[in-house]
Parts: sequence; structure tokens; C-alpha cells
Amino acid sequence: MKLEKVLVSGSGKLFYVKGLDADYHTQFGMVKKDDLRKAASGDSVKTNTGKELFVLSPGFSDLYRKIRRGPQIVPLKDIAAIIAATGIGRESVVVDAGSGSGALACFLANIVKEVYTYEIRPDFFAIALQNVKELGLGNVKVKNKDAYAGFDEKNVDLVTLDLAEPWKAVGAAADCLNVGGFLASYSPTTPQVTDFVSAVSKEPRLMSLKTIEIIEREWEANDRKVRPKSAAIGHSGFLSFARKISKSE
Ligand SMILES: C[S@@+](CC[C@H](N)C(=O)[O-])C[C@H]1O[C@@H](n2cnc3c(N)ncnc32)[C@H](O)[C@@H]1O
Repeated sequence: MKLEKVLVSGSGKLFYVKGLDADYHTQFGMVKKDDLRKAASGDSVKTNTGKELFVLSPGFSDLYRKIRRGPQIVPLKDIAAIIAATGIGRESVVVDAGSGSGALACFLANIVKEVYTYEIRPDFFAIALQNVKELGLGNVKVKNKDAYAGFDEKNVDLVTLDLAEPWKAVGAAADCLNVGGFLASYSPTTPQVTDFVSAVSKEPRLMSLKTIEIIEREWEANDRKVRPKSAAIGHSGFLSFARKISKSE
């Protein structure tokens, strides 16, 4: 069902209204479907308990939050680090593997020219395809193919890997990257990082750049109660970056 409206409470809590055929229930009370239908972005609606909720039209970040989840997705803090480290933009072409839920592929597609994403499992391929469709992204091609067998694309600006054995795709990434292009591998564990960086060091066309872990600490800021939130996101994954520095193997 289509995401129609976003409701925001005074404390910043978001409610996602899918379809407008029924009243919408929140922890602050119920909003009538007729009020929801009439409300435009920037208006506010009242619940039956008198609480005011602000109405927004869904933007990309809202639609993205509601995508279907299959395997674990790359968190936004790590996607942001990939974008910042590689400088990809509206002219960039990206190859991504494995697609999983297509989260990383879709987020990148929202800022680059084209994304080609590879997924070996038919069930996850279907989820990624559905998410691409629901986000209305016309520049993502999801391929039900084995990334370890190589990529079809050439001269791409970035290859992103979120695979159990990313070292097996290092040669394929070097084949399809532009000189100057980046390889970014996301892995939850240190043995994966060790084997990936080792494979990069043996690939003469690539130069290892850095491995980082992004730690995000959210704070609550409420009058004089300004402190880190008690519940924090723990470890997600490590990001290892490499760059193509030469054409010759
Ligand atoms: C952790 S998920 C990727 C999540 C994705 N980055 C996202 O943000 O939604 C890893 C995916 O890689 C896929 N995969 C594993 N081996 C693969 C291969 N050889 N070729 C393509 N996909 C593969 C798995 O089926 C799984 O869906």
C-alpha cells in the first residue's frame, strides 16, 4: 500500500500513513481519514484526544525507512561514509553486490546516475526489485547473478561490496572500475577485513586506502536534559576502501 502522509508529533515521533481508506491510530489517539485526506503538507491534524500532529508529504528518507527488509541492510551512517570517502555524485556509475534488500543500492541510486546491483538469491533479488520499484528509482538495474563470477559493467566509478567473502570479488571489482574509481567493502567481522585487505594488496591495479568503523552516538536534547541516549546502536560493520590506480595487471 502506498505511503501517503507522514505525521510528526511535537516530540519528533514519526507516523507513516499508508492508504487513506481508514482512520489512523497513534499512541496520541486517532486521526479521522477525512481529515487525513484533506490535509496538505504543512497543515496539522488533531487526534480524537486533541493532540496536534503535523502533516508532511513523504520524501525519499521516509519512503526509504519503509522499504522491505530481507537480510541486514547497511546502516545510514555507513552509507554516508561511503558517499563522503568516494565523492560519488550525479554523474557516477556504481556496481553493488550483494543487493540483499537493495537498501545501499537504492540510497546510492538517489544521488548517482546509475546503479547495477548483483544478488545471487532469487528471494532477496525479488525483495530488492520490489524496493527499487516502490521507491520509484528508474536508474537501478537489479541482476540475479553471482558477483564472484564477475561484473558485466566497465569503467564504473564505485564498486560496493557487502558479501560474506568480499575478497573473492576483488579481481572482478578491479576489472570493472575506472582508473581513479573506488572500491568500498562493508563487513561485520575482522577476519573478513583481514582477507579483503590482503586480497587488495595482491591486486596490482588497486591500492588499499583505509579501514574505518563509524560510531554514531545519538543524544537527547530536551531543555537542560542534554545527554547521550541510554540505548545506543552497537557495532554494525567495518568499511574498507581501496582505489584503482593502474590499468595494468
Ligand atoms: C548483507 S546482504 C546485503 C545487504 C545490502 N547491502 C543492503 O544494504 O540491503 C548480503 C547479500 O549478498 C548476497 N550474496 C552472497 N553471495 C553473493 C554472490 N556471490 N553474488 C551476489 N550476491 C551474493 C546474499 O544473498 C545477501 O543477500
